[in-house]
Amino acid sequence: MRRECRRIGIRLLTAAALLAFGLSTQGALAQDHGGATEASKTLFGSRCAMCHGADGHGSEMGKSLKVKDLTSKEVQSQSDAELEHVIAEGKNNMPPFKDSLKKEEISGVVQYLRTLK
Ligand code: HEC
Repeated sequence: MRRECRRIGIRLLTAAALLAFGLSTQGALAQDHGGATEASKTLFGSRCAMCHGADGHGSEMGKSLKVKDLTSKEVQSQSDAELEHVIAEGKNNMPPFKDSLKKEEISGVVQYLRTLK
């Protein structure tokens, strides 16, 4: 009887460990898929927010440079590829980032922009 209990206990523990493992790998996979990660958010905060504002609407300085509201339909209706292109190559007062950011960082930051709309 006692031994039986112990066996069930071990099974439960194994199930819990597997579940925890599954959840943690799922989290890691989501990040690999270019989901809006903390890293992209931090990158936006340090490289883009000075012009675009932390919320994407545009800072005071950005407004004087005529930034577009990144949460607007005009920007959000563009494809990921179009936005990645502008970020890499720049446009008017928007500086190019292809030399300072990796391709994955640019696509990551576009995924972050999608969370702002
Ligand atoms: C020096 C200020 C400045 C910085 C820094 C900056 N931007 Fe911009 N950004 C602009 C301006 C100005 C525009 C408007 C360009 C235009 O259409 O004339 C713009 C436009 C954009 C657009 C819209 C493009 C379009 O075609 O509608 C996106 C997306 C964008 N920026 C993303 C970013 C990201 C991501 C970063 C950080 C990696 C960043 N920007 C950093 C000034 C800046």
